[in-house]
Amino acid sequence: TVVAGERGEAFAPSNIALCKYWGKRDRELNLPINASLSVSLAHLGSHTIVTESDTGADRVVLNGIEQSTDSKFARKVVEFVSLFRGDLQQPVLVSTENNIPTAAGLASSASGFAALMLALNQFYNLNLTDIELSACARMGSGSASRSIFTGFVEWQMGHRDDGMDSHAIVLDKPWPDLRIGLVKVTTAEKKVDSRAGMQRTVESAHLYQSWPLQAAADLEKLHLAIGQQDFMLLGETAEQNALSMHATMIASWPPLLYWQPESVAAMHKVWDLRAQGLQVYFTMDAGPNIKLLFQQQDEAALLEAFPELEVVAPFSS
Ligand code: PMV
Repeated sequence: TVVAGERGEAFAPSNIALCKYWGKRDRELNLPINASLSVSLAHLGSHTIVTESDTGADRVVLNGIEQSTDSKFARKVVEFVSLFRGDLQQPVLVSTENNIPTAAGLASSASGFAALMLALNQFYNLNLTDIELSACARMGSGSASRSIFTGFVEWQMGHRDDGMDSHAIVLDKPWPDLRIGLVKVTTAEKKVDSRAGMQRTVESAHLYQSWPLQAAADLEKLHLAIGQQDFMLLGETAEQNALSMHATMIASWPPLLYWQPESVAAMHKVWDLRAQGLQVYFTMDAGPNIKLLFQQQDEAALLEAFPELEVVAPFSS
């Protein structure tokens, strides 16, 4: 039986995948077709507090704004809470603050569900291990499994049908010079979310058949790059992985192209800078925005090339 405490409170960082998760083998449990690997975004993420609701109904507050109970966001949150409250009828208040610059167009579902899972673990006294927390957070949003940990994190796909072996693990390989740059391309709301995008790709793109092989090969390269702090291998692998994922999206029907003209312009800019000798690479998720990968030594040059760049140092405390 579940016993509620007074309050659960937690922070979880956002993360950027260097080898992407794209495609589910089980849509209910969010079990992936491929393993993925990410780096967490230090202080950028979600801070969530769970307490008892005093209105007799579940409440969801985001960045200080009460969310309507039939909004997609509130429904997902309440559905997730209900996985853990057992037969407790007590309504809860879930309040989340995201400090991810919304202008950077970063998804907050990863940090959001990870922070919520950590807060629920406290609130309901669940005493789950980190591995169990990761497997549970995964059910809210796949990438949330990786946001339970910090630094380089691998989400192992697992093989069991119940999903309990599909969780993240931490690599514990700090890389102090590594930098992530968030480039704002556009803040326009995307029309197809990652769940719908994955389903469309898996069901309609023949090209998708090559994706699990690409991802498996990239995962190995990334382990090598991280082990040897080989920045060129890390950057090349991450960029090719992201473009390969986008290739499968473009090959779907109806076609799925998250890029805007500004996204393509930013890609060309990165390639031009690289041709001039700057070691910079990019990655992109299911949206138009670009994330740069570079090293501390090139930060000044990149701030000059991208004046609005938001720089994150994943390993500096
Ligand atoms: O966790 P979801 O369902 O929001 O999917 C994330 C998908 C990508 O961001 C495109 C890739 C990834 O691994 O984060």
